[in-house]
Amino acid sequence: MNLTSTVTAATNNAKKAFLDISHIDMVFPTPTGGFTALKEVDLQIEKGEFISLIGHSGCGKSTVLNIVAGLYQATKGGILLKNKEVNEPGPERAVVFQNHSLLPWLTSYQNVELAVKQVFNNTMSKGEMKEWIEYNLKLVHMDHAMHKRPDEISGGMKQRVGIARALAMQPEVLLMDEPFGALDALTRAHMQDSLMEIQNELNNTVIMITHDVDEAVLLSDRIVMMTNGPEATIGEILEVELERPRNRLSLAKDLEYNRLRSDVLTFLYEKQRKVENISTKANVAPSTLKKSVNEK
Ligand SMILES: Nc1ncnc2c1ncn2[C@@H]1O[C@H](COP(=O)(O)OP(=O)(O)OP(=O)(O)O)[C@@H](O)[C@H]1O
Ligand SMILES: [Mg+2]
Repeated sequence: MNLTSTVTAATNNAKKAFLDISHIDMVFPTPTGGFTALKEVDLQIEKGEFISLIGHSGCGKSTVLNIVAGLYQATKGGILLKNKEVNEPGPERAVVFQNHSLLPWLTSYQNVELAVKQVFNNTMSKGEMKEWIEYNLKLVHMDHAMHKRPDEISGGMKQRVGIARALAMQPEVLLMDEPFGALDALTRAHMQDSLMEIQNELNNTVIMITHDVDEAVLLSDRIVMMTNGPEATIGEILEVELERPRNRLSLAKDLEYNRLRSDVLTFLYEKQRKVENISTKANVAPSTLKKSVNEK
């Protein structure tokens, strides 16, 4: 095989991926010139795969997700979903945002309703839609506050409504930006288990950003670990071949689970160690303060 046919074969293979994040660069304009947040991010995802994106704060995880969502346009490269280029948001790619993004003038119920109407207006009756909205709010334990507006509920509760809204759309691709970050440990475990069940039933393709190593190993088929920015890219990809359904309690003692966990920790805290000198900054402030007080 000559080089041209090798390249063509490779391109054809890439095209077959259900979701193809193809050679992406992202340069943000800033007052001091372009800031290259992402460089050559390339990842092919199969239908029904659960991918976690993990990396230090500011490395570019949300940027990748926003590009797949069609909210940002990559500077170079692009996204193909079932061989079609993604240039704008679409209901087949539901997003759970990092900062809860509910419409403040609508109740929890109405926020979910808006999304459900967008997808199922022609296929569900009014009664079916009502049942479906209530079912999804129950799933995230929000049925007791269905008719409250976002300013009347807590951050974790807003996050849960955002998750219900995304799940209610039955999207082919579910994009989640730290979806469980604001939840207490018990609710978080419940949501992780529900997500595994839903994904097993519907075979949605999921990309989830998380900072939680245990969550990444428990839920994922592959953990994609990003290097620190600028020019962040994919550093390593870890295959998680633990049998499903997965149970957090039995996994806690599982050797393979613990090996995977330790691989992610090693990547984050040895290979991509990020030193944020908080203690120095903390020391500077009081002494400066002291000096200025003494000078008075
Ligand atoms: N609109 C923008 N304009 C300029 N720079 C941006 C913009 N959005 C993001 N950035 C920069 O790009 C980099 C990646 O940001 P991003 O929000 O994707 O990081 P992240 O990995 O999601 O971080 P975190 O874990 O804290 O949410 C950061 O350095 C950020 O400052
Ligand atoms: Mg982010």
